Amino acid sequence: MSLYYQDGGIKIYQEDNIELLRRLPDRSINLIYCDILYNTGKVFDDYSDNLGSPKEAMEWYRPRFEEMKRVLADNGSIFIHCNWRLDSYMRILMDEIFGERNFRNRIYRKHSAERGFYANFDSQVDIILYYVKDSGNFVFKEQHGTSPRVVPLFENGYLEGRSEIRIFNGEEINLEKRNKHWLISQKQFDDMVKKNQVQIINGLPYRFSTVVPVGNLWYEDCMLDDYTRTDVAEVYDTPKPDAVLERIISTCSNEGDTVADFFMGGGTTAVVAKRLGRKGVFCDINRKACCATMKKLENLK
Ligand SMILES: C[S@@+](CC[C@H](N)C(=O)[O-])C[C@H]1O[C@@H](n2cnc3c(N)ncnc32)[C@H](O)[C@@H]1O
Repeated sequence: MSLYYQDGGIKIYQEDNIELLRRLPDRSINLIYCDILYNTGKVFDDYSDNLGSPKEAMEWYRPRFEEMKRVLADNGSIFIHCNWRLDSYMRILMDEIFGERNFRNRIYRKHSAERGFYANFDSQVDIILYYVKDSGNFVFKEQHGTSPRVVPLFENGYLEGRSEIRIFNGEEINLEKRNKHWLISQKQFDDMVKKNQVQIINGLPYRFSTVVPVGNLWYEDCMLDDYTRTDVAEVYDTPKPDAVLERIISTCSNEGDTVADFFMGGGTTAVVAKRLGRKGVFCDINRKACCATMKKLENLK
């Protein structure tokens, strides 16, 4: 056992994450976020970000992702943060392990402004792959604003299995006839009907609600990296901004749920999880990361 720190529902382990993962019980985690090794080839003070070729990196990650699936609750979600070096390989690996139907989205997080490189288009985003354990049952809490909005519940084009007739207020909605298909499942439609959110305009279904749709381009100022490249960061070199974790944790878990990060680094996930009233299991192979995170958690008191 390598428990480094425990306070209330938050635990930090210092060890190779595969060792911890193998000990964790089945279905014990509600939400996993990991800012994984990007395989840059860089050697840092306390770990090497060199896993070999992308295919060798896949084999390094394979047993870890298999264990992550095992420990994830039946309605759990997982976010793998990577960049252009491994994103496509990780997508294929995650499809193999979690199942392609459980892929939800690929999120593009803008990390910085252009840095003036020439002879290439500057790379300004990294990628967060979002999967759930079961696409029929997972936590996703919509964000609400103050004013109502109208969004269509259909899209153009007939799609087999997605253009079925549904009944609303005793009337048929026949999207096939209009060469369109549904954007939402029958269950989601029923939920919206129950909440009085559905209205028909020119024979087509729309949702009226205060829900603020959030897209998969995360480019707001608060999403950008805010560390400096010229100074040594206070505790860790490349922390992700709190806003990224706030959006993921508040949307895809409930208060009191257990959040895990198995590549903890400077502990952004741990700090945000604690602040949002979640429990947590966090792991890093390095003492420096554990120590830095522990200090941040203590400062929250
Ligand atoms: C990219 S950093 C994570 C940064 C973090 N997202 C933050 O906001 O500070 C990756 C971390 O993974 C850790 N790490 C590398 N190999 C590991 C392993 N096998 N098990 C656990 N942690 C590992 C490193 O020590 C490093 O702290």
